[in-house]
Amino acid sequence: RVVDFSDELSSTNDRAKELARQGAIHGLTVLACRQQAGRGRLQRQWESPAGGLWMSVVLRPNLSLADASKITLAASVAIVDTLQELFELPIGIKWPNDLVHKGQKLAGILGEVVGEWNTVQTLILGMGVNVNFPREQLNNTFPATTLQEILGFDIDLNLLAAKILENLEKELICLEEKKFDELKSKWTKRAIGLGEGVRILRGEDVIEGTFKGISIDGALILETGNKEITFSAGEVKLR
Ligand code: BTN
Repeated sequence: RVVDFSDELSSTNDRAKELARQGAIHGLTVLACRQQAGRGRLQRQWESPAGGLWMSVVLRPNLSLADASKITLAASVAIVDTLQELFELPIGIKWPNDLVHKGQKLAGILGEVVGEWNTVQTLILGMGVNVNFPREQLNNTFPATTLQEILGFDIDLNLLAAKILENLEKELICLEEKKFDELKSKWTKRAIGLGEGVRILRGEDVIEGTFKGISIDGALILETGNKEITFSAGEVKLR
């Protein structure tokens, strides 16, 4: 595996994009000890002190634009499976990709398409896991936690990264073989709020309904009144 490692970067996603534009191969992995301007979904910032796992992978899979959100769901499942296998930690997934432990966010995923997906087929898959630092180092507006807080000890970041990448590869192979159902069922087993009343924020609008599941392209299915509406991850936030 090709790894690009830095002590500090603005964002591993930005570095991975730059390398992708220069022709980086599928699977190239960018890691940084710290990010100065880590980014989250929906233009949020992502706090990235030393001790966290800040990683972006250049993916040139045999898939299309419609599959981009499935790949981010695959990354959620890969991280959840890793934490289950290594530490028997039960992690829930808040749609689309917030990884949550007892109501507190532990990890997040940011997928970004580079250039014309249909011609170059590149997705930058950014994964951030709060690992070896106390939660006091985060000034988030949302409740967050770290593996150090949960487990009470520090863990080897290289081992964690390797295991996540191994699980991710398995999920991607499944997707390339068009076995989305397997991934969907793994994702659904961990989903938080499934079958319950939820609120979706779209800009200033609030849409209420029942969270029915995810569609074939990874969008959220909401039942309101007696119709079903789907929302893609790019446009909305789940409350
Ligand atoms: C979110 O939950 O909003 C997504 C957070 C994604 C954070 C990771 S850390 C590595 C990569 N580089 C970034 O700038 N963001 C992602």
